[in-house]
Amino acid sequence: MIELQAVGKVYPDGKELFWALRGVELQVEAGEFLMVVGPSGSGKSTLLSVIGGLNPPDEGSTRIDDIPIYDLSQEQRAEFRGDYLGFVFQDFQLLTHLTVLENVLLPLTVSGWDRVRQRRKAEEALERVGLLGKARRLPNLLSGGERQRVAIARALVREAPIILADEPTGNLDSQTGWEVMELFRDLAREGATLIVVTHNPENFRFADRILYMRDGRVVK
Ligand SMILES: Nc1ncnc2c1ncn2[C@@H]1O[C@H](COP(=O)(O)OP(=O)(O)O)[C@@H](O)[C@H]1O
Ligand SMILES: [Mg+2]
Repeated sequence: MIELQAVGKVYPDGKELFWALRGVELQVEAGEFLMVVGPSGSGKSTLLSVIGGLNPPDEGSTRIDDIPIYDLSQEQRAEFRGDYLGFVFQDFQLLTHLTVLENVLLPLTVSGWDRVRQRRKAEEALERVGLLGKARRLPNLLSGGERQRVAIARALVREAPIILADEPTGNLDSQTGWEVMELFRDLAREGATLIVVTHNPENFRFADRILYMRDGRVVK
């Protein structure tokens, strides 16, 4: 599903260049739950943004479903992201002035689906994460774990086959974090491909495979 070959990414660092990713080789199968761990600054978020089509690498090839995503035009890549990828972040990134349902509807506004179908899909996604009963609330009235589940519903709503999450339990207590991880694990069992960055070893048991990064390299 995902294949990186010899991927390198360089950032300017004053007058120097800093290689945030070096020679990264990675293959992820459909339905796999991969966790990415490593010290702060080791390149985990950069890796996720490269896979997510948000950050063109300076070396190597990045293929998703055999499509070399950085050979696509910006427009094609944006469309590709909408079809293939759902993103979940540490700070949830919900719009606070919109209801739960409206937040989950957002990715569908560009789908071309009619309003009835949009609404049905958004409600299905909220049901999947156990929050259909809170569809009309504003996010601020939800707990942290519930907000993260809304963000997961938003990532799911277009039925993207791949979900990328950057430290999704970083703002949650451990019990709530496990519930989010269990939800991810169940989604992987249902066929989604998941790549989740975490620094919490308690989460490792949910993964099929753990990728250890250090200094921009995959070390294990
Ligand atoms: N946009 C950027 N410009 C310059 N340096 C960056 C940028 N993004 C990340 N870096 C640097 O690249 C390295 C890897 O960052 P990151 O991928 O965020 O690591 P991690 O997520 O593992 O903490 C860090 O040293 C960081 O300072
Ligand atoms: Mg990071």
